Amino acid sequence: MNPGEFRELGHRVVDMLAEYLEHIEEKPVFPNVEPSTLTQFFAEPLPQDSSPPEKVLAELEEKLLPYCTHVGHPGYMGLITPSPNPVGIIADFICSALNQNIGAYTIGPAAVAMERRTVRWLTDLAGYDDKAGGNLTSGGMMANFVGLKLARDAVSGDRIQQDGVQDRWAVYASEERHVSVDKAVDAVGLGRTALRALPTDAEFRVRLDALEVAISEDHKRGIRPLCIVGISGTTNTGAVDPIRALRKIADREGMWLHADAAYGGGMLLSHAWPMRDQGLELADSITIDPHKWFYAPLDAGAILVKDDRRLTASFGMKPSYLTDELDRANERYQYYVHSFEQSRRFRGLKVWMSFKRYGASQIGEWIDNNVRQAKHLYSMVAKHSEFEAASDPPMSAICIRYRGAESDEPRSKELHAEVARRVESSGKFWISTTELKGKAWFRINPVNFRTRTEHMDQLLALLENECHSVLEST
Ligand SMILES: Cc1ncc(COP(=O)(O)O)c(C=O)c1O
Repeated sequence: MNPGEFRELGHRVVDMLAEYLEHIEEKPVFPNVEPSTLTQFFAEPLPQDSSPPEKVLAELEEKLLPYCTHVGHPGYMGLITPSPNPVGIIADFICSALNQNIGAYTIGPAAVAMERRTVRWLTDLAGYDDKAGGNLTSGGMMANFVGLKLARDAVSGDRIQQDGVQDRWAVYASEERHVSVDKAVDAVGLGRTALRALPTDAEFRVRLDALEVAISEDHKRGIRPLCIVGISGTTNTGAVDPIRALRKIADREGMWLHADAAYGGGMLLSHAWPMRDQGLELADSITIDPHKWFYAPLDAGAILVKDDRRLTASFGMKPSYLTDELDRANERYQYYVHSFEQSRRFRGLKVWMSFKRYGASQIGEWIDNNVRQAKHLYSMVAKHSEFEAASDPPMSAICIRYRGAESDEPRSKELHAEVARRVESSGKFWISTTELKGKAWFRINPVNFRTRTEHMDQLLALLENECHSVLEST
């Protein structure tokens, strides 16, 4: 492809996407198509011959664009994937064109400096001081994995990364943790049974009395407490664990405290409900996902660490083929020495550009709007005779349920699933379902700067209609 062709194709792509974004609200949120049709669309052998770019683009317009889940549609209020902000979209284009590899300074000097500054903005937001550090990761899953690895290494006096796990250890997190915590406990070699899933209170926060009992049981069985994972914004309801109290217990027991603020970290930018005084900065490490509530396009998670040196202690290996012998003054920051991943894209660019273009202030307003929308839905449900809410939402995630089938929980679960299916087919909204304390719920979670309050009114009316219609038909 010559530069002229690149320019022409690039302009066409920008036109196509501008048109897509301009009319996103008119599209069905979720495509009405069978999975087998999609498989069929792409069932072809590896192309041996070239195709003109316009033909490739036409195929995308025909087979990809109409069959996306339009997460930028204001009715998308489902699993936590934001409406990507337009500057972030452009940033990813630039990022791929430059293809800087953040792993090593020699493959992206300015990009490394910008990524470090972006991490600094995040550590500042979290309330850490300048001894803190971190990495941008593929997402919260990877960040929680790194958090658990840091915990394991620090608490074992940096023995386990050399000798493997020899003692029995325990990790404590609430029943409302994200499954990434379970996977991380497994991946760092502790085994899933090392995780103590603790009950929560009426507001879905971890119960400290249950934590104390679990620790003391473990002591009796010769199991050593390793880490508490406190959640600052649970996936289901945005509940915030009492981080200050968890810090005290972690200190007493010599444990690492990891805070999972993958979703809730967005509240650090909120003007109306600032996440102050919750003690997030007391955690040894924190997961925050800019690709959730900072409206950055995928992927951009982050692991932040109070003491930057812990990253080097856990990951600091320098094979000769990576060692930068040209760095005489030791001034070149090598991410591969201070992180788990090596080759990785310049994720920081979209976060950096978004902050520059919109400022933390505008992003904070979008966040406040999403919280207001969840609270508006809560107040309507509080007055509604047929629905109930799990809790007054502290963030934008809210779970509500239809009370009609109350006495029969399997039936209620089927009702909620069927209604969610019908909402999906309506093309107007997309919401998910979940379980809380053994009951079925609709999970509604605007992380979307296009959503407006009126969408909550429309969604509740649709849910009401569909619940009635499902009950009448059974
Ligand atoms: C609280 C929490 N932690 C971790 C994750 C995992 O993040 P990711 O999907 O970016 O890997 C999620 C995802 O929703 C989450 O809600």
